[in-house]
Amino acid sequence: MEEPSILPFPYQFKEISDEEKSIIKRVYNAPIASECVRVGPKGYIVYKPYINDAENIYNMPLRPTDVFVASYQRSGTTWTQELVWLLVNDLDYSTAAAIPLTARYQFLEIFMYFGEEGQDSYLNSSINMANVDMNKLFEIMKLWSTPATQLLANAPSPRFVKTHLPLTLLSPKILETAKVVYVARDPRDVVVSCYHHARLLTVTAYSGTFKEFWNLFHKSLFTLTPYFEHVKEAWDKRHNPNLLFLFYEELSKDLPTVIHRVADFLGKQLDDDQMAKLCDHLSFKNFKNNISVNYEDLREFGLMDENETFVRKGKVGGWRDYFDEDMTQQADQWINDNLQDTDLRFPSTNL
Ligand code: A3P
Repeated sequence: MEEPSILPFPYQFKEISDEEKSIIKRVYNAPIASECVRVGPKGYIVYKPYINDAENIYNMPLRPTDVFVASYQRSGTTWTQELVWLLVNDLDYSTAAAIPLTARYQFLEIFMYFGEEGQDSYLNSSINMANVDMNKLFEIMKLWSTPATQLLANAPSPRFVKTHLPLTLLSPKILETAKVVYVARDPRDVVVSCYHHARLLTVTAYSGTFKEFWNLFHKSLFTLTPYFEHVKEAWDKRHNPNLLFLFYEELSKDLPTVIHRVADFLGKQLDDDQMAKLCDHLSFKNFKNNISVNYEDLREFGLMDENETFVRKGKVGGWRDYFDEDMTQQADQWINDNLQDTDLRFPSTNL
């Protein structure tokens, strides 16, 4: 049998400048936050352990039954993951309740946060470890630091993959073989949500203000930015039959219509009762209290700040409470500049 040929990883890695490093260091207490490089012509920010598995991710053998849920982070990934998983698994609510979403999906690039630097950052942080079961912690760190490509190699089908990597860092054959559901969200709500997420994660220990975070984000110094490049890559593929492009705002406004679109995409059908039950299951209130999806199980490892939650507000347009006039103008300009060469438009904006 012919050996599958390995494509060389086509992109270069570039160190971030000292000035960029110092901007990041100013607002994060954990050293891991500035342990990043830029990859490829668009300069996506990744953490250094990613370099070691970039080629494997790019060459990951795919199966026709694979389903990817892809997004820029904090765009409704978890919400979409639960929806997709339930549809593919014929609404098997009992398994969904019994097995956390984190075990039903492999998170493709989580290992990049848990290389040696990342683990040291965590273990040497000011987190109170008094009540943490260290054996369990080391076990979970071992799992998270293992590239998902290894874990997926022998996983049974259908395989479910979550990723925040842009499409160009995945296999160039992905849309010939697997299905990808991509979800995008108004970047101003994304940045607010990312800010809270950075505060939630005790590992990264974000200590700056929202304004400083906004600067990091729109100057493309935050994980996997530049944001618009990420979204545009998927938008450009939205007519491919193996990619479904969704907006968070659409899920929020009319969940049943989105569910129908996702069901059609996955070749599934729902009757009215099934639809009503699924909408209820995915409602913000139920989602927030659902321990299989809300990441509350990570609290036992001291990973989450007590004042924050993973499933947070679930609102469209909440950014208005965070942006002052300057930031609003900067955002308008930034969005306008980045939408000039595309017909991508966010449903929540008239920009
Ligand atoms: P907020 O921080 O604005 O509340 P991701 O899963 O990509 O990390 O996205 C997280 C965002 O989706 C958070 O946004 C979270 O509250 C929101 N979210 C999660 N489940 C939701 C649901 N069922 N309904 C509405 N929003 C939801």
